[in-house]
Amino acid sequence: MLLRYLKKQLSNIYSFIYWVIKSYKYNLIIDSLSISKDCVFEGDNQVRSGVTISSGCRLGKRTYISGPNTSINSATIGRYCSIAMGVKLGLDEHDYTKISTHPFLYSSKFGPFTKQKNSVQAKNNVILKDDVWIGCNAIIMRGVTIGKGAVVAAGAIVTKDVPPYSIVGGIPAKVIGQRFDDDTIKKLITIDWCGWNDSIILQKFDNFHNKNLFLNSKN
Ligand SMILES: CC(C)(COP(=O)(O)OP(=O)(O)OC[C@H]1O[C@@H](n2cnc3c(N)ncnc32)[C@H](O)[C@@H]1OP(=O)(O)O)[C@@H](O)C(=O)NCCC(=O)NCCS
Repeated sequence: MLLRYLKKQLSNIYSFIYWVIKSYKYNLIIDSLSISKDCVFEGDNQVRSGVTISSGCRLGKRTYISGPNTSINSATIGRYCSIAMGVKLGLDEHDYTKISTHPFLYSSKFGPFTKQKNSVQAKNNVILKDDVWIGCNAIIMRGVTIGKGAVVAAGAIVTKDVPPYSIVGGIPAKVIGQRFDDDTIKKLITIDWCGWNDSIILQKFDNFHNKNLFLNSKN
C-alpha cells in the first residue's frame, strides 16, 4: 500500500518535471499531468486541468483543450482548434462480435485467463483539421474526420465525416448550417491562413474581423 503510494507520488513528480521542461521548450500551458509523454505538441498549446490525452496524439499550433472531463484518444488535431470541456475524441471500442464484450477475453488485467494483448480491431484516428471548434460534451467517434473550420455543436455525437466550415449538431450529428456561403468557403480553403507565420497573421490581424477585407486583401 505504502509502496504503491510512494510510486505514484514519484511518478507525479517525474511527470511534473517532464512537463515543465517540455512546456518551456514548446511554449505550452499545461495544467494536466494526464498526458502521454509521446504526444506531439506543435507549440503554443494549452491543455487545462481535467484533460486526459492518450498515447500518440498530435496537437497543431495554438490548439487548446479545456477540461474537466475531456478525453483525447487516438487523435490528430490541426492548428488553432478549440476543444471545450467534456469532449471525448476517439473512444476505445470493445469487440462486440465475441461472446462477451468484457476485456477479460484479451487482457490479463481483468482475470487469470489470458496474457494476450488487446485484440480489438483498431479503427483509424479521429482527425480534426485546422480551426475546428468542438462544443461542450461532444463525442467524436473513431475514424471520423472533422473538416477545416467546422463547428461541432454542444452535445453532438459525430459518427461521420464533417465537411469544411459546416456546423453539425445532434445525435447522430447532422449538418445544421454552414459558417459561410460556398464561394467564401472555397476561398478560405485556398487561402489556408492556418499555415501563415505569425508575422503575416499580425499584419492581417484586423482583417480577421472583416470577411470582405480578409478575402480581398493580397497575400
Ligand atoms: C452550434 C452553435 C455554435 C450554434 O450557434 P447558433 O448559430 O447561435 O445557433 P442558433 O441558436 O441560432 O440555432 C441554430 C439551429 O441550430 C440548432 N442547434 C443549436 N445548438 C444545437 C445543439 N447543440 N445541438 C443541436 N442543434 C442545435 C437550433 O435548434 C437551431 O435549429 P433550427 O434552425 O431548426 O431552429 C451553438 O448552439 C453551440 O452548440 N455552441 C457550443 C457552445 C459551447 O459548447 N461552448 C463551450 C465553450 S468553448
